[in-house]
Amino acid sequence: MARANGKVILLGEHAVVYGVPAIAAGIERGVEARARPAESSSLRIGERRALPGDDSDLGRAFAALLGALAAPKLAVEATLELPPGSGLGASAALGVAIARAVLEETGSAPDSARVLAAAAAWEGVYHGNPSGVDAAAAAHAGCLLFDKINGPRPLTLGRDLILAIGLAGPPASTKLMVEGVARLRERRPAVVDKALEGIRALVGNAKLCLEAGDLPGLGSLMNYNQMLLSGLFVSTEGIERCCGLARDAGALGAKLTGAGGGGAVVALCDGTSEPILGAWRAAGVECFGSAVRGSVGEASVRT
Ligand code: PMV
Repeated sequence: MARANGKVILLGEHAVVYGVPAIAAGIERGVEARARPAESSSLRIGERRALPGDDSDLGRAFAALLGALAAPKLAVEATLELPPGSGLGASAALGVAIARAVLEETGSAPDSARVLAAAAAWEGVYHGNPSGVDAAAAAHAGCLLFDKINGPRPLTLGRDLILAIGLAGPPASTKLMVEGVARLRERRPAVVDKALEGIRALVGNAKLCLEAGDLPGLGSLMNYNQMLLSGLFVSTEGIERCCGLARDAGALGAKLTGAGGGGAVVALCDGTSEPILGAWRAAGVECFGSAVRGSVGEASVRT
């Protein structure tokens, strides 16, 4: 059996598309996958079934992944513990977990470059040109600094992070949200570039806060990042409401995670996620907690 994490982006989404670093954290909820030899290849994720090369995105992604690994015929089953399309990295986690299950079944070493290449082939079907931050976070627990040139770099945390993750709205298309920011940048380049440089400064300071274990500082930077994301028109009323509820319940910081337009909000908690999860549940928001411990490679656990 193989596993991969979902992820949250603590700071830097959208700006990462323009070369600014982002900070991502693997969360414990993710994907479990297993593969066994079969007469013909097939994929089952819960109730969904696909065959390589059928005319669904899932079938095309599965074919691309099997091709990248030069895999023999395998029946693959996966369990998805994340809501898809909500900025929590569900599709990258599927790609990484399935690639790991295939390598495990074929007796190959779980070489991370091969896993990431196969996950990139899988992701390419859904996102066209993914930045790679999701697959990198799916493959490692802990926190990563990621930029398009240097790829993922592990961050050592001064203190564990307790996160609350709430679903602020229905899923939105990452592709459309990224295109919206690109159109805004064409119309108002100076305004957007200022926001991107602001986010770059926040990410640089957040790295220092994470390393020093300064969680109130990190929370403030997440709040500022949310303001700049609102200025890029990727926030929604539902996202702002969830952030407000979390801050009123004691969160050190709260922001959207991923592409925005709906999807998930991440709140940094002060010791325990319970007051924030309680406030969200009372408001009808689906939510869960996750802790991020230590550095890349260590396990993260649900709280
Ligand atoms: O919604 P997600 O989890 O796929 O996050 C997308 C992050 C963006 O910065 C908006 C896009 C990207 O390619 O990095």
